[in-house]
Amino acid sequence: MPTPVTRLSSVRLASSLFESSFSSRPAVAASAPGRVNLIGEHTDYNGGPVLPVALERRTAVAAGLEDGWFFVSALDGTVRGAEIDRPLRRDWTDYLVGVVRELRTIGAAPVGARVAVASTLPAGAGLASSAALTVAAAKALSLLAGRRLTPAQLVEVAYRAEHDQVGVRCGRMDQTIAAHAAAGTALLFETASGAIQRVPFPGRLWVVESGVSHRLTGGELNQRRRECEEALALCRQMWPGLAHLADLSTDDLPTVNARLAPDLAARARHVVTETFRTRMAADALARGDLGQLGWLLVEGHESLRVDYRSTIPEADAIVELAMEHGAYGARLTGAGWGGCVVVLAAEDRSARILAEIAGGFRDRFGREPEAWSTRAASGVRRETLSG
Ligand code: GLA
Repeated sequence: MPTPVTRLSSVRLASSLFESSFSSRPAVAASAPGRVNLIGEHTDYNGGPVLPVALERRTAVAAGLEDGWFFVSALDGTVRGAEIDRPLRRDWTDYLVGVVRELRTIGAAPVGARVAVASTLPAGAGLASSAALTVAAAKALSLLAGRRLTPAQLVEVAYRAEHDQVGVRCGRMDQTIAAHAAAGTALLFETASGAIQRVPFPGRLWVVESGVSHRLTGGELNQRRRECEEALALCRQMWPGLAHLADLSTDDLPTVNARLAPDLAARARHVVTETFRTRMAADALARGDLGQLGWLLVEGHESLRVDYRSTIPEADAIVELAMEHGAYGARLTGAGWGGCVVVLAAEDRSARILAEIAGGFRDRFGREPEAWSTRAASGVRRETLSG
């Protein structure tokens, strides 16, 4: 059965963690949302469009000035000292160190800080918890330094922290939705031009967790990105001047299929068809045509399963069960190799559909998946610290 979104807000959790860990009150706090991507998967590093929605579940960062750097997370409650210029430790604090390094390059870092982090997002569930953390941290720490960065600056700091510092070869989708989201809307983000357009998303969507945790630093995403680069280099031999894989049209696919090795052709095929589906999906959503939107989601999942090879059996089963029991559509969301399925369904049918998913999943995998719903929420914000 669906579980309610955690009642306690992430900012109250972060600020009480700050007080209990540091015996003082934080000076500033900020929070940023996780996301589900409705469609447009693995297009953001190939010059294509994405269509994410911000979740009500958020990550909050509370901070106060200090000599040196001290980080604590609600996940383990242990205060860790950090040296910003030392090699990264390969744990969650790397994301904060990355943010501080990037803030320094634009002169927007405080001299040092105590930082407490808390989240109502499940970690490692493919809901962009790392972007929620880096965007919220960039906002809180820059405020602590007396700077007000624009959403575009927050995106750049958070993206470079994850991509250049931590070394995850992600695109900019997650940071962009975390910084630019507006309540009640999905965000059509054309990653090649940087154009963003809000598309009304007044209803609810459901998130079903596969329970299989993915670790981006594990390398699958980086490997796919290398394959896409290789496919692009080969395509440029046929189409000199081609900027991105997403610039190919579906009419070019017979040539791609004939000239590239099967694996590389499949990756390119996913990017090209997904780009087409994502723009159609934004149109369908704008017209309120949830039937067509749902069908595009299912096609997108199939493309991830067959061509991009980023799904897992648990996610395939959730999509099948959702469709069998009357959802508009369902799709593995986020990088893949674990994570969550987004389910679109009529509100009055959702309880029954989710119960059927839970039952069918239990029959196959011996456990019930967590499921919860959300509306489209707003992006990063400064939080007021009460009383
Ligand atoms: C991860 C990355 C994003 C995007 C998705 C796949 O979430 O952080 O930039 O590439 O995978 O669509």
